[in-house]
Amino acid sequence: MPNNQDPLILAIDTSCDDTSAAVTQGWVVRSNVVASQAQLHKKYGGVFPTVAKLAHAQNITATVSAALQQARINPEQLSAVAVTIGPGLAPALEVGIRFAEQFAQQHTKPLTAINHLEGHLLSVLARPNSRTTAQAQPNLDTVFPALGLIISGGHSQFVLIKQLGTYQILGTTLDDAAGECLDKIGRMVNLGYPAGATIEILAQQGNPEAIEFPLPLTHRKDFDLSFSGLKTFARNTLATTSPKKLQDAQFIKDFCASAQAGVFRHLLYKFERALAAHPEIHSVWLGGGVAANMQLRKKLRSTIRQTNKKIPLLTPYSKKLCADNAAMIGVAMNANTQNTVYTSDQLQRQPRLKFG
Ligand code: KG4
Ligand code: ZN
Repeated sequence: MPNNQDPLILAIDTSCDDTSAAVTQGWVVRSNVVASQAQLHKKYGGVFPTVAKLAHAQNITATVSAALQQARINPEQLSAVAVTIGPGLAPALEVGIRFAEQFAQQHTKPLTAINHLEGHLLSVLARPNSRTTAQAQPNLDTVFPALGLIISGGHSQFVLIKQLGTYQILGTTLDDAAGECLDKIGRMVNLGYPAGATIEILAQQGNPEAIEFPLPLTHRKDFDLSFSGLKTFARNTLATTSPKKLQDAQFIKDFCASAQAGVFRHLLYKFERALAAHPEIHSVWLGGGVAANMQLRKKLRSTIRQTNKKIPLLTPYSKKLCADNAAMIGVAMNANTQNTVYTSDQLQRQPRLKFG
């Protein structure tokens, strides 16, 4: 339940292909509306920026109205507006920023710029609004330093969270992101876009050991990641598979299970090393679209257990909070980190905004 003393935030995220608006109060999500464009981009097999911009422009007003309505809030009750300024697709970011500026000006509310990646990272701190699903807030006196994993369609990073607002990037992908890799592999076997969730379902009925994917970057002691070799391996495997086998439903399930296992094995290999190198870590935080994957969560927990560490894996309370959404932007604002309050003529989109 929200504490009525906590400030009410209207948060907006249009960084990629989802138009999202949310109302948060403290850590509590009072509403979180997402207008997905997945259907529009399906035929391109990825996100087409100008199509995304147009769809954001069409959806943003109704999305914000729905978020306010679901939270039973009128604009005058808000304390502030928070908007994602990057990283993301420039034309898509622009729509959310301009809308937020206009809204803030019209209702004379302060406007805060938020980094989308900080949103994903802090999404584990979000709490549900209802009494029935009440969950205890992680104890912020005992969880730091934490190891954060941002595993999404655009990013794959290991982050040392020393405190809220104090982040150090330990490792990052050198090429594709983990979700992007799953999407590209899924496209090769016509699973549509995005493919991560479909691969997870098919993988449940497949053999993860049917095809042995390579383990990248074992020669390096750092915590960087690389997924493009896995994508190439998948393509080569399919190229040398007979047309008859490619039509075989069980082969596709085995292929999905093996590809997913390959992507996760690489993540887990580097994760285990990051844990070993940082014995001071008190908790692991998992955010981003791929964090919705139950197999990944299970494997992370078992890796933590194997290292004899009794530390929790924190995950967002709902899958909706894993994918792109605005509630995580409100939560990041509540963390009251190094966000800068901008006046409206200073707010610039930052498609390549860095983090940490
Ligand atoms: O966080 P997100 O919505 O967007 C970015 O900021 O990138 O992540 C989208 C990614 C896609 O690559 C999608 O395939 C993947 O998350 N994804 C999953 C699952 N659900 C979504 N990957 C694996 N298992 C899932 N269940
Ligand atoms: Zn994202």
